Amino acid sequence: MNGRVASTMVEIATIPELPEVETGIMAVTQPTKAATFELRRWLYILTMPISWLLTFWVMAKKTICRRLGKPDPHINTFWFDGLGLSNRAIKVGAASWKALDIIYNHPFGQKKSVGGFIDDFWIGMMNAQAVRNRLKLVKQEIRRAILNFSNHQEVRLLSLAAGSAQGVIEVMAELKSQGIRVRALLLDIDQTALDYAKQLASQYGVADQIEIVKASVAQVIRVSQYFRPQVIEMLGLLDYIPQDKAIRLVGKIRESLETKGIFLTCNICHNPEMHFLKWVINWAMIYRTPAELSEIVTKAGFEDHRLIYEPLKIHGLVIAQKR
Ligand SMILES: C[S@@+](CC[C@H](N)C(=O)[O-])C[C@H]1O[C@@H](n2cnc3c(N)ncnc32)[C@H](O)[C@@H]1O
Repeated sequence: MNGRVASTMVEIATIPELPEVETGIMAVTQPTKAATFELRRWLYILTMPISWLLTFWVMAKKTICRRLGKPDPHINTFWFDGLGLSNRAIKVGAASWKALDIIYNHPFGQKKSVGGFIDDFWIGMMNAQAVRNRLKLVKQEIRRAILNFSNHQEVRLLSLAAGSAQGVIEVMAELKSQGIRVRALLLDIDQTALDYAKQLASQYGVADQIEIVKASVAQVIRVSQYFRPQVIEMLGLLDYIPQDKAIRLVGKIRESLETKGIFLTCNICHNPEMHFLKWVINWAMIYRTPAELSEIVTKAGFEDHRLIYEPLKIHGLVIAQKR
């Protein structure tokens, strides 16, 4: 599966290990079933001057508005959220499950209009490719983590900041067809995310294996007391939490896991599109190097962990095990 960069102990995923499972309902959200990671760099490297120009333009507009004591512009630029309606929805929902849902499942090439072309272009940018790669990688590693416990009567998975839980639900549906029973507890502070996840679970035929809880991740120890998770995943949240707070939270997560339990989490890494994300998409995040990401799990008390990056090396996934 992986090429290993020995000195930093970072693995780079090359081919997703996606099993061929036909369930009929899989077609509902098909893109994650593609058998390769996305790696279209050149178009976005060659057009980088355009994205920088747009970034500077939006930066200037916002600076002027703020100096004049006015709110930020309703539309950042005609060439992103002006013409692109899906881009606009991503900007409005930045950092939420709704924005990720659009990026995960965008139907490329279906809208034959200028707006459709603009949506396709930006939802194809390297960061969006990397987010879809992350979903594929996460599914692969969640599946592997669950299979670690497949000799148990059932495997209990806790999804923190679950959002739509698309990856978890798709893996549960695959494994159900192979006779492996997974119970999942989905935790999020946003009830709309939990409602959407429930609906998705019904489409995939696993609604009876899912419970939802509207709570903060800070409640992880309390929630785990009765659920006793063997696998905990928390994706798309560390990117918003400062280092010390992240270490304390991951420490609580470790405490909540059963012995030999597995924890999966991820973080975005510095990349050339990060300023575009902040200014044009209104999506600010905490960018971490592999060493900073590793430090969180190590200082939280995990003795063993692996660090895998998707091929664009923008999103890194940590898989840690409690001894
Ligand atoms: C970027 S989305 C990630 C969703 C999903 N994990 C994924 O990767 O597709 C972040 C999610 O975290 C949730 N969230 C934010 N702060 C939270 C908190 N303190 N406790 C629980 N959930 C939180 C949001 O409601 C949102 O659904």
